[in-house]
Amino acid sequence: MKSMNKIPVLTIDGPSGSGKGTIAQLVAKKLGWHYLDSGAIYRVLAQAAIKHDIDLADEAKLADIARDLDLVFLLKDDDLKVMLEGDDVSTIIRSEQAGNAASKVAALPLVRAALLNRQHDFRQAPGLVTDGRDMGTVVFPDAEHKVYLTASAEVRAQRRYKQLKEKGIESNLSALVADISERDVRDSQREVAPLRPATDALELDSSALGIEDVYKHIMAKCGDM
Ligand code: C5P
Repeated sequence: MKSMNKIPVLTIDGPSGSGKGTIAQLVAKKLGWHYLDSGAIYRVLAQAAIKHDIDLADEAKLADIARDLDLVFLLKDDDLKVMLEGDDVSTIIRSEQAGNAASKVAALPLVRAALLNRQHDFRQAPGLVTDGRDMGTVVFPDAEHKVYLTASAEVRAQRRYKQLKEKGIESNLSALVADISERDVRDSQREVAPLRPATDALELDSSALGIEDVYKHIMAKCGDM
């Protein structure tokens, strides 16, 4: 099914630490397209739940707050700031703990349904690059271009370790490998929108590739963007 909505979309899905966020931002910048970090929405929702003392398994309440989530993305000088109810949560939502909490709320069908329209609203001219788990399969199934980016669990844990360090967040490599594996299992085995490549996605293993190589592969495949 190709797009009835003429605004083009490039979806980049994949597991945690595959490099999809970095590459999606790079491509969006080069093309001058909008960028949607869908994982940040689930991270912020989990943060809101913790802030308001809502159990991470309370599906009905979580879906309610998801619908009215006061979330704003601010892009300033290449820096994506994430605001929850007026507070800057950009750093706190990046911890592994926050990622794990996000993957718990993300497994709930009513929560995912409540966040669909919000994600569709990002489809604005001249185009959208989006990263997540179900961008090409569920949220934008009619996207013109779909990429599924992966890498070995060890490489992903190392990348995540480096990323967290750069953000000033202390972590431990072996704990990261365990966290990433736990999240992979939950994300790929859940009943709704499990992590998997769309049938029409370009699958790329980035374990041995640098950012520039991944970028070139994607641009070569999506040459008409
Ligand atoms: O991509 P990121 O690591 O920020 O995502 C955090 C969590 O949010 C993932 O582990 C996954 O459970 C969930 N997620 C999702 N669908 C998306 C994006 C993220 O379920 N499109």
